[in-house]
Amino acid sequence: MLKYLPDILAMENGSTVKNEQDWAIRRDEILSLLRREIYGFPPPVLSPGQGRVVETNKKCCAGHAVLETVEITVQTEKGPFQFPMRLFMPTAPGPHPLFLLLNFRPDAYDMYFPAEELIDNGFALAVIYYQDVTSDQKDTWDKLAACFERPKDGTGYGALTLWAYAASRALDYLVTRPEIDQQHMGVIGHSRLGKTALWCGAQDERFRYVYSNDSGCAGAALEKCKHEGAETTRIICGNFPYWFCENYQKYIDHPEKLPFDQHFLLAASCPRFVCVGSASLDAWADPVGEQLSCEAASPIWQALGMEGYIGPKNPAAVGSAYLEGEVGYQLRDGIHFLSRQDWLRYMAFMRKHW
Ligand code: GCU
Repeated sequence: MLKYLPDILAMENGSTVKNEQDWAIRRDEILSLLRREIYGFPPPVLSPGQGRVVETNKKCCAGHAVLETVEITVQTEKGPFQFPMRLFMPTAPGPHPLFLLLNFRPDAYDMYFPAEELIDNGFALAVIYYQDVTSDQKDTWDKLAACFERPKDGTGYGALTLWAYAASRALDYLVTRPEIDQQHMGVIGHSRLGKTALWCGAQDERFRYVYSNDSGCAGAALEKCKHEGAETTRIICGNFPYWFCENYQKYIDHPEKLPFDQHFLLAASCPRFVCVGSASLDAWADPVGEQLSCEAASPIWQALGMEGYIGPKNPAAVGSAYLEGEVGYQLRDGIHFLSRQDWLRYMAFMRKHW
């Protein structure tokens, strides 16, 4: 493996992760590190998120699903904050496995999710439009971001942390729905929301499946090992500083000094299941860096008697999918997109590890 990556097994007390007890400690160390140095600490959870169905459409997906609009309420330091969530629930008897998608647009139907296909495969789908939570704009700390005092010591939440926090508050409500199978819930996102999904799943152990689609820099892709055409720490820190905590800026020209790499983010979901998807024409998100990260995260699963990533060490062939291990990787043909083909593989990954 890449020798210059920080050792994921090396605990702060100098010992090596060998079993579940060690891993519980090491996972906390990793989460603290990621909170302190890149994503920021989340706001406190004052009480579980609550949901109220405000609209119901029974003529959805050929009548095979009910589409609900649910208002999610989060208690904050400045009173209740609300955002909407769409919930496609199969009409067939449950309980149903669930995908919770963070999405780019508020529309009920969207090019990034094949609702009918998911429903016909027996999945429930919850969708949150991320900018209902907080705007994706520099220096605009609005909506949920305006509801808490952001710590000024460099570790205060970035926007990715707030979007992830909101997904967890939506999950607080979803687990109260008897139609949902709580053993089979996954969080998924594309690109900046793929970064968010990884971060959400890393922290929230109720998600047994964590999916990253084309998440790239500060997502699944390694920072210390970039390939041609890939986004760098300098570019992402310069263009999107507000996605992260202020401390991340310390590394803008020195990713080699980061005390972690992105395989730490994947590993934080161990012993659960992580599936990383790349696209062949998406050099910006660095498919090879994403694949290497899956391999680099795997020693944690192996220390616990599992396997992690089972796939080639050389760059994967276009169109291939390696879904056998607890860490899956797939390389779809085509551009930066969350496609039907990606979803078919993500459904297959969940089924394989049922
Ligand atoms: C930009 C950004 C990426 C991000 C992407 C997206 O290209 O540089 O890091 O993943 O936007 O979210 O679409």
